[in-house]
Amino acid sequence: MERKPVPYSKTVFVCTNIRDGGRVACGNPGRGGAELCEALKVAVKKLGLKGKVRVARSGCLDLCEKGPNLFIYPEGEWRSGVAEKDVPEIVKLLES
Ligand code: FES
Repeated sequence: MERKPVPYSKTVFVCTNIRDGGRVACGNPGRGGAELCEALKVAVKKLGLKGKVRVARSGCLDLCEKGPNLFIYPEGEWRSGVAEKDVPEIVKLLES
């Protein structure tokens, strides 16, 4: 195993988990997790933060009922019930 420094100043982990059988999940149709992740990727690219900030899809973060959920590393900022309309506010956290 090779040890390396973290290549990004910040990483946003966005839950896009999908579940079958009617169980709640951030990435299920109508919940918005995948759309949120894509909107954040577009915003990061638009602001020239690509390469500094990584927007990554995540599996279940275990607060499914409150999702879509995301957290920002290394700050440890957590947001629940996030929608595309919240992207500008999230991006402010990434620019600082
Ligand atoms: S499915 Fe997103 S937190 Fe569980």
